[in-house]
Amino acid sequence: MDETLISTINKLQDALAPLGGGSSSPVDLPQITVVGSQSSGKSSVLENIVGRDFLPRGTGIVTRRPLVLQLVNKRAAPKSTTNANNDLLNLNDNTDKKHEQKSQSEDNIDEWGEFLHLPGKKFHNFDEIRKEIVNETEAKTGKNAGISAIPINLRIYSPHVLTLTLVDLPGLTKVPVGDQPKDIEKQIRDMILKFISKPNAIILSVNAANQDLANSDGLKLAREVDPEGSRTIGVLTKVDLMDQGTDVIDILAGRVIPLRYGYVPVINRGQKDIEQKKTIRAALNDETAFFENHPSYRSKAHYCGTPYLAKKLNSILLHHIKQTLPDIKLRIETALKKYQTELINLGPETLDSASSIVLSIITDFSKDYQALLNGEGNKDLTTME
Ligand code: GDP
Ligand code: NA
Ligand code: MG
Repeated sequence: MDETLISTINKLQDALAPLGGGSSSPVDLPQITVVGSQSSGKSSVLENIVGRDFLPRGTGIVTRRPLVLQLVNKRAAPKSTTNANNDLLNLNDNTDKKHEQKSQSEDNIDEWGEFLHLPGKKFHNFDEIRKEIVNETEAKTGKNAGISAIPINLRIYSPHVLTLTLVDLPGLTKVPVGDQPKDIEKQIRDMILKFISKPNAIILSVNAANQDLANSDGLKLAREVDPEGSRTIGVLTKVDLMDQGTDVIDILAGRVIPLRYGYVPVINRGQKDIEQKKTIRAALNDETAFFENHPSYRSKAHYCGTPYLAKKLNSILLHHIKQTLPDIKLRIETALKKYQTELINLGPETLDSASSIVLSIITDFSKDYQALLNGEGNKDLTTME
């Protein structure tokens, strides 16, 4: 049931991707949005959660389009759900049996990624995923300049991930470089605000532990839209780089800037680790050892590190989806009526193909959702906290 819920939301997320995930979108989907200043460690946190290297890196603004990253635990996913997901990804895919057989046999290979804009193409090589993200970014924004709010949707199937949806956004920055527009700071801020101001957005605020939390631009922005800290979760990176004798215990205890979901301290690979090709697996082992052996964190090592963060995010997302389902249903129905009226008033030939695809997917979603409500899911939904 839980996996089905997240997959259903994933489907809708794909359907709405052409609308840019912004104010034009008829529904506000529960999703976790990563916010932080440049170099706070956002990409590193995402890669550690996935357990693989796959994000573009470099100096300057590397993330220039939102990346909607849907992690799917493929062992846990029930077969029908997997098929439903594939249906959507294969929307424009007219290969038939041959393709099915191929994907069956490839299912034995552990992990792969698929982009919404390249339906049916499986990326088993994560370096190729990185290249594709770079190419797709440049396709919509040019080589050096701007940013675009149109998301790149990437789904990663793996037995090593918890089912989870994360949105990576450009980092907050101050100084334009190269051909970047002069108002790049404002543009990025506006894009982040567009995502995190929606009441269903869960804000993953990434902050470097070796910098003053009170001055964190990401946390400041989060607090603008979520002043009570009721839908923000904090991540403290670079705990290994803190001055000797200092720690983040006061922050964890909620004595600095309290957040309802609290903070999770993590340790990612440093620049040197990456240059020396330290694997993420080795980094995760070292992270565990660090917290277990550190006098400040030893007694609470269970609540520290990336695996705990992933678990926590998965349960926050599920809880949030369950809470917001009734409202999503209402909005979907309203959007459906509106699209249907438009269709009747304008005549089908005047609708561009994008809107009619969106319409048909929303219609499908609505049916799926109804089935979910009428079926086994009903019990879970009515007994939610
Ligand atoms: P982003 O700009 O927020 O996506 O940040 P990155 O993930 O690219 O990280 C920026 C730099 O900080 C990189 O050189 C990382 O290797 C380094 N870094 C990130 N997290 C940590 C950490 O927990 N410890 C250490 N030592 N370095 C880190
Ligand atoms: Na950052
Ligand atoms: Mg980054």
